[in-house]
Amino acid sequence: MLTIEGLTKTYRGGVRANDDIHLRVGAGEVYGLLGHNGAGKTTLVNQVVGLAAPDRGRILLDGHDLVADPGFARRVCSIQPQAQVPITGLTPRRAIELTGRLRGGRADVARRRTAAVATALDIDEWMDTDAARLSGGVKRLVSFAMAAVIPGRLVILDEPTNDVDPVRRRLLWAQVRALADEGAGVLLVTHNVVEAERSVDRLAILDRGRVVVEGTPAELKAGVADDLRLDLVLEPGRHAPDLPGWAVRVARENGHRMVVTVPAARAGDAAAWALAQQDAGCVEAFGLAPATLEDAYVALVGGGADPGAGGADDGASAGPATPDADHAAPTPAVTSKEDLDDRAA
Ligand SMILES: Nc1ncnc2c1ncn2[C@@H]1O[C@H](COP(=O)(O)OP(=O)(O)O)[C@@H](O)[C@H]1O
Ligand SMILES: [Mg+2]
Repeated sequence: MLTIEGLTKTYRGGVRANDDIHLRVGAGEVYGLLGHNGAGKTTLVNQVVGLAAPDRGRILLDGHDLVADPGFARRVCSIQPQAQVPITGLTPRRAIELTGRLRGGRADVARRRTAAVATALDIDEWMDTDAARLSGGVKRLVSFAMAAVIPGRLVILDEPTNDVDPVRRRLLWAQVRALADEGAGVLLVTHNVVEAERSVDRLAILDRGRVVVEGTPAELKAGVADDLRLDLVLEPGRHAPDLPGWAVRVARENGHRMVVTVPAARAGDAAAWALAQQDAGCVEAFGLAPATLEDAYVALVGGGADPGAGGADDGASAGPATPDADHAAPTPAVTSKEDLDDRAA
């Protein structure tokens, strides 16, 4: 449906925000665009909808040239922009219905679909509240609803889950899936790798304006398939322990949190070592789990992703002490001595 070829964009001042990008998004597909802040994600989607003009390259939707015809782009694409949409003076209900009407929906259809999406996102209680009194998370959900109420062929979502609570994030992801299931192509921009792993069919990782890798989450994880991640929470005031020789590397470190990459074949050694560290009072908690897309991401684009606040993923990183269960890594394989004994039994 969407074909991007050789897309290149340099801003005045010389920043090359997009550098020869090629990608394709199919109907019914949720396509993720991942990358650090400043990687060029918003620049890319802004060009799709004609808010920025490329230096060169082509953007085609069903064979139609969007660069030459930005009016067409805006008719066929719905976008949830990264910046909060100002709806001052309106209520969510008015704003969402109005967008539905602007997108060509009949009044009764816009009204019905507005009510349905509000219920699906669990924001009914705020639908008639003045926009000035809404929280950031609710505003973000309203902005999503405005893009989804009468969706275009291509729905573009730029960081749709920022500020949204964990429970409503799940509702939002279900709605993203529903858009694709109804036939739309969805181009989803995020820096939340953990969420992307669960929600996208395919993805591209962008780094400094270039696509560094492209594929399904499983394909991208193939590079770390033989790795486990050992998440360590150090006791307050304790220094990082000396790592045994079999530890591949310290993937990330932040204050009292560490993520260590371990070969899968050393799972038993890793668990025993971590338990010993716990018994010695160096480690407060730990988790041992298969490597995630986040680990693949860090291995690919590197950089200061930190295991506590995520860095690359907006506070949704994995770890044994992460309070936000929605964003914790896959359940750690081993969390306590009892657990280990259970397994041995
Ligand atoms: N209007 C602009 N003028 C100049 N530079 C910009 C502009 N918008 C973005 N940039 C720069 O382009 C790069 C990519 O930005 P952006 O597309 O917003 O990245 P992302 O959405 O991945 O965080 C960054 O270095 C950013 O500072
Ligand atoms: Mg952005």
